[in-house]
Amino acid sequence: TRHLLGIESLHPRDISALLDLAESYALLNRSGKTRRDVLRGRTLINLFFEDSTRTRTSFELAGKRLGADVINMSVSTSSVSKGETLLDTAATLNAMNCDLLVVRHKSSGAPALLAQKVDAAVINAGDGMHEHPTQALLDALTIRRHKGTLEGLTVAICGDIAHSRVARSNILLLTAMGSTVRVVGPPTLIPSGIEQFGVTIHHDMADGLRGADIVMALRLQTERMSGGLIPSAREFFTFYGLDAAKLAHARPDALVMHPGPMNRGVEIDSQIADHATRSVIREQVEMGVAVRMAVLDVLARTATPNA
Ligand code: CP
Repeated sequence: TRHLLGIESLHPRDISALLDLAESYALLNRSGKTRRDVLRGRTLINLFFEDSTRTRTSFELAGKRLGADVINMSVSTSSVSKGETLLDTAATLNAMNCDLLVVRHKSSGAPALLAQKVDAAVINAGDGMHEHPTQALLDALTIRRHKGTLEGLTVAICGDIAHSRVARSNILLLTAMGSTVRVVGPPTLIPSGIEQFGVTIHHDMADGLRGADIVMALRLQTERMSGGLIPSAREFFTFYGLDAAKLAHARPDALVMHPGPMNRGVEIDSQIADHATRSVIREQVEMGVAVRMAVLDVLARTATPNA
């Protein structure tokens, strides 16, 4: 495919190939010898309709490290604020012959809609509660670097599963690659029918984390909840916040992950988030650049330059 709209459309073979390429970029990044010619002459536009720190910055860095011209469109200062529609914005960008369009939007399916209207390769940087494919790829790369494989691992994804595109993309990727996935959270934050994705449901952290190789904490996505249904932060932390006592149920070598942004003292305790050997949260961010370089590289190779 010409675009990266979700993990759903990737074969395990594609996932492995992307992770292998990302691993080579991770090594190059650490050695400071990044290739700069792969995207020379190509234009990448970051089009973010929702806030971002990690994803937008790492796509910018990835594009620049590979030699692309990178433009960050700030939606709040664009003509979207004057009422220009998503499709008119896309048509305008298309007329500028952009090669790679990275899109984040609050509506599920917005990147897929754009992909039908523009000549550029479209990359989903998070769409509503649907998917965040590069996050799942960077999580998988981080896990693989520590555990050597994704196959046969037990991964506990904890907290707000219902509103999380990160959970959805991770579930699709990890089950496709042979991991066992548990979702752990209160009934109100676990979507009905999620078992059909091959996961088991746990409402108790001790039960969900028992023997896990990986524990992934997720942010409460209050921006996607309506007022009366927002759990109290203190109560949530008591039952579902990842602290040392709850983590003790996982394997002694279990890794702690969080996609960010973190709410310390809500879904994760600071002591665990900053733990020197258990937490790989900073490495996740580092792998984000490598994964995005791999995705841009692969898509630019399949796309014909928009001259
Ligand atoms: N994990 C993630 O998508 O972070 P940002 O919202 O900062 O991009």
